[in-house]
Amino acid sequence: MSINILGIESSCDDTSAAVVSDGFLISNVIASQAVHSAYGGVVPELASRAHQQNIIPVVDQALKIAQLSKNQIDAIAFTRGPGLLGSLLVGTSFAKGFALSAEIPLIEVNHLQGHVLSQFVHEKDNPKENPAFPFLTLLVSGGHTQIILVKDYFDMEIIGSTIDDAAGEAFDKCAKVMGLGYPGGPIIDKHAQLGNDQAFKFTKPHIPNLDFSFSGLKTAFLYTLRDKIAIEPNFIENNIDDICASLQTTIIEILLDKLKLAVKQTGINRITIGGGVAANSQLRNTLQAEADRRHWHVFIPERKYTTDNAAMIAGAGYYKFLNKEFVDISVAPDARLKF
Ligand code: KG4
Ligand code: ZN
Repeated sequence: MSINILGIESSCDDTSAAVVSDGFLISNVIASQAVHSAYGGVVPELASRAHQQNIIPVVDQALKIAQLSKNQIDAIAFTRGPGLLGSLLVGTSFAKGFALSAEIPLIEVNHLQGHVLSQFVHEKDNPKENPAFPFLTLLVSGGHTQIILVKDYFDMEIIGSTIDDAAGEAFDKCAKVMGLGYPGGPIIDKHAQLGNDQAFKFTKPHIPNLDFSFSGLKTAFLYTLRDKIAIEPNFIENNIDDICASLQTTIIEILLDKLKLAVKQTGINRITIGGGVAANSQLRNTLQAEADRRHWHVFIPERKYTTDNAAMIAGAGYYKFLNKEFVDISVAPDARLKF
């Protein structure tokens, strides 16, 4: 008999359900919320409302693709936090109701640990090598920018973190300043591929140790555009590719400088990346090139497992199921959940 875990992710603006069977991913359905694009960022109230509309169809679809009925699910894993409280509440309440009615165990997953463990999500017909412990994860998303020392599946330590904005926020906020849509990261990524990344210079922050800062870059970016527009009103339109390329290179240099320092300080050269910004083509290429040069062993996940998804939650839930790490029905979501 197979062990089937249903995973639920609803921490931000993606409603997702996935099924992992005996450790292999057999379905992963994601409903992204277009409603936020008009606002240049996620509107929490709209996000929780959209989760409420999406959650049942998304779960139905995930079960259908997995060709399983509700009573063939052995446990349900859900994202307890960190994230937006109203969004987390929808997934948590759904998971509790499902666990109660199907009389199966409930498993809580930390969203960030989920991103780290997305490395261990395998499709049956596409097996990959797992990174050996310990390894370093560069987790870069719209809400987080961290370097995590991963000692075991659920034994992780944050050794560097942003002191202000996340890397994804830097992409999104700068895109908003340029009048591009939301999320800005993929749009900047596209323009950057056509531009000259040395066209403009933005100063990098000087933050000690393994911590990051992106708020100064955002301000420098804003001031540069303001000064250039004063001279050339159509500056953004005329230089969009070069602006995006220069900005993106600066963000990636900031990330890689700290990663190099982390490798030096820990002596660990096995590296994984996760979070939405890990979908960035230049970050992926530059990291691979650095790895080849420095003899690092990097594990770069497929793009669909970098942004928010329930596959990583169901995968983490599978390992917790094997350890019988279940939670009581009284569990509540935690917007600032730590590990
Ligand atoms: O992990 P994620 O889906 O949600 C959070 O937990 O935040 O990450 C979303 C973030 C957004 O800031 C988005 O702009 C960024 O990931 N992102 C990218 C790319 N694709 C998504 N940033 C740069 N380049 C990309 N290709
Ligand atoms: Zn995330």
